[in-house]
Amino acid sequence: MTDILETPVAGPRPIPRTKAPEPELTDNPISGDRYYSKEFAAKEWDSLFPRMWQVAGRVDQIPEPGDYVTYEIGRDSVLCVRGEDTKVRAFYNVCQHRGNRLVTAEVGSLAGGEFQCAYHGWRFGDEGRLNWVPDEEDFVQGSPCGKRNLIEMPSDTWAGFIWFNMDPDAKPLREWLDPVADHLDGYRMENMKRTHWVTVVGDFNWKCVQDNFNESYHLPFVHPQTLSTMNEHHSGCQFDLYESGHCRMMMPGGGPGPQFRGNADRTFKSFAQDFEFWEFDAEPYREDLSGLRVALQQRKRELGAAKGYDFSSYSDEQLTDHYHYTIFPNISFSMKPDGCIWLRGTPHPTDPEKCIFDMWYLTQFPEGVSEYYSNSMKDFVSIDYQAEHETGLAGEVSCGPGIDQDVAIWNTQHAGLRSRGYRGEYMPLQERRIKYYHDNLDRYVGMGPL
Ligand code: FES
Ligand SMILES: [Fe+2]
Repeated sequence: MTDILETPVAGPRPIPRTKAPEPELTDNPISGDRYYSKEFAAKEWDSLFPRMWQVAGRVDQIPEPGDYVTYEIGRDSVLCVRGEDTKVRAFYNVCQHRGNRLVTAEVGSLAGGEFQCAYHGWRFGDEGRLNWVPDEEDFVQGSPCGKRNLIEMPSDTWAGFIWFNMDPDAKPLREWLDPVADHLDGYRMENMKRTHWVTVVGDFNWKCVQDNFNESYHLPFVHPQTLSTMNEHHSGCQFDLYESGHCRMMMPGGGPGPQFRGNADRTFKSFAQDFEFWEFDAEPYREDLSGLRVALQQRKRELGAAKGYDFSSYSDEQLTDHYHYTIFPNISFSMKPDGCIWLRGTPHPTDPEKCIFDMWYLTQFPEGVSEYYSNSMKDFVSIDYQAEHETGLAGEVSCGPGIDQDVAIWNTQHAGLRSRGYRGEYMPLQERRIKYYHDNLDRYVGMGPL
């Protein structure tokens, strides 16, 4: 007899809410020098980053053969290019003649041409082959063409991102991402548009970023506005620490938690645009906000298709809640029903006391809608407008109302971590993802150079 529950479902499914078993954590201290010592930073570069899957850009930046993006990580630059065969490949952005950086643009197109090194003119095709050199007959050791090709590394695409890994023996991307890719497939991020692209250079170590996104203990103080719209208290959230080193936090949204002491006006004001879009009357919940979340879920379910959304792969919780995933060691996906805040802290190539922090907002536009109010960014976004890359120092460029508050804290935290008066962390259980993160860092750093 076939049980309907056992019938495999094709395509992406709602995110399972199963709690991951708690891993064992060490009691090694998280010392301040991890954040500023050049020796520790050198170990991270030698042993950690070359083994990690990293993101070079968005697939929709390179739709045609010959389109390319570059991404600088540490002392390396990675060149990702779509070949004539439509495959995306990742190469070290290094000319194989005498080492000049081959491409300096962040994004571009060969448009039928070749990469030509600015130093002595060697030319490489979009599949990395060295096609032409000046004075080919002068190479007594034999022509370098077809031989001194660009150095390729493993690469892949998932969720509309271009990924690469410097480890030639890296495990496949999906396996590495386990179980995150399975969980997030349903958001169809490959259809999302990058509507904000901001890079902040700040005076803090890159791990301050990931530490911060690995806990929600700071929300009432750094982001007091969240109290009226989500249940940020740890008792209402679930934290999962996966074997792969990645973590998850599920935080109920669509209304405040029981600890909220404010009035309904605050909540209604924060959700005003959302309520308007969903034609939702919140008044019946004024006296008791606890029913708001489920009512909002039902409303979105009822009106989803009419508003241009396909919510068939979402659970009801995904329609209101915050699903936050930290990808080891430096990326976060903060999922919203209509988008994703994508966050990354990249170490500065030479100074561990500086970080290159990226915030991308990816918007899921409803079908047929070209102008949309993003509640997360508190901003109107347009599907026809390709986000420009904004770069600046902390405080000069904005990552949106919530993330700017985090950036401000990293500067002051780093200053404190550097102090002789810092004695190491002392954390509540709800911050255990940070402990797990540092335990995993130690594991990789201890492996030695790749
Ligand atoms: S270093 Fe590139 S052609 Fe000489
Ligand atoms: Fe925060």
